Amino acid sequence: MRVAVIGAGVIGLSTALCIHDQYHAIVPALEIEVYADRYTPHTTSDGAAGLWQPYLDDKGNIQETLWNKETFDYLLRHLRSPEAEEMGLFPMSGYNLFTQPVPDPSWKNIVLGFRKLTPKELELFPGYSYGWFNTALMLEGKSYLPWLTKRLQRRGVKFFQRKIRSFGELLAEGVDIIINCTGVRAGELQPDPELQPGRGQIMKVLAPWVKHFIITHDTESGIYNSPYVIPGSKLVTLGGILQLGNWNEENSPRDHKTIWERCCQLLPSLQKAKAVDEWSGLRPVRHRVRLERETIHHGLSKSEVIHNYGHGGFGLTIHWGCAMAAARLFGSILQEKKQARPPQSHL
Ligand code: FAD
Ligand code: BEZ
Repeated sequence: MRVAVIGAGVIGLSTALCIHDQYHAIVPALEIEVYADRYTPHTTSDGAAGLWQPYLDDKGNIQETLWNKETFDYLLRHLRSPEAEEMGLFPMSGYNLFTQPVPDPSWKNIVLGFRKLTPKELELFPGYSYGWFNTALMLEGKSYLPWLTKRLQRRGVKFFQRKIRSFGELLAEGVDIIINCTGVRAGELQPDPELQPGRGQIMKVLAPWVKHFIITHDTESGIYNSPYVIPGSKLVTLGGILQLGNWNEENSPRDHKTIWERCCQLLPSLQKAKAVDEWSGLRPVRHRVRLERETIHHGLSKSEVIHNYGHGGFGLTIHWGCAMAAARLFGSILQEKKQARPPQSHL
């Protein structure tokens, strides 16, 4: 059986790994192939800061909260493994700041030590009158993607650098099942009016004295559109840009100025930091993740596609829960194929 995963960001690679882990012993001659036009370190997943933090409220989407939790707990188990360093995984504590009181987030019992800020802590951040402190996790794509790739290579998964122009193209080549993990460009393979780019821009600076993340939520700016500071293993990420509908992957000098000025105001010691790098990327924004099966018709034959895209600004945060759910959908397809097969002749 040939399975093609389109996409080599965190979603494609983790889904490929999950499917291989769960089915290689059951499915005879399971061949998993990954097709992508961009590989690490050139995907959106590589550019992300890598903090485990979902959006502030799940808008009643309890399913996504469960996938976030599954991912957090999975990563927490890996924290005690010797692999953690190579995975780009480590704990990180920090602040979420608001200009007025807000309800607790859906993830307050998923992270460690969630609590409200004291008045004395709030004095550290003039302009903010409410906030939380908690310990979460960092999962840096620039380490995690190579780690996933190595594990897949060891299992015999094959990688092809190629832009796929239609699902039919792969089906015509004999692929049995397609897993669609194409992120923000999923609409090129099948129109999806609900999917749009949420352009972000970040700076990477050298500031080893910054030990906590600080994410601000200025009223009316919307999520990730006000300044944030997130320390990584080597560099600190400065951000706070989200532009819906903007497909431009070039860095903008205007956004650079906005990020720098607002982050220095938030944490004045950053004025002494050395700017090292800058990056712009497109969050695959959708009102909810698309994680479902679809039967598609190709000529006279039909085939199954599992869609797994639209993870907005929380792809690393939710990836493992989604990979497990996609693997379950894969299992349901196998089950149906088995039932549809005519009984073997005993003659
Ligand atoms: P991608 O990483 O974009 O991968 C898509 C893959 O599909 C690529 O390999 C691409 O080549 C391939 N592809 C697409 N179309 C085709 C085609 N037709 N043919 C072949 N290949 C194709 N999330 C967090 O959880 N924590 C964070 O701290 C965080 N910070 C962020 C900061 C910024 C500035 C931005 C922009 C995003 C951030 N995110 C964060 C969000 C996260 O980056 C995304 O949710 C995640 O990368 C989506 O992963 P993906 O695998 O779906 O997409
Ligand atoms: C973002 O910019 O999308 C982002 C920043 C911090 C945590 C998660 C996402």
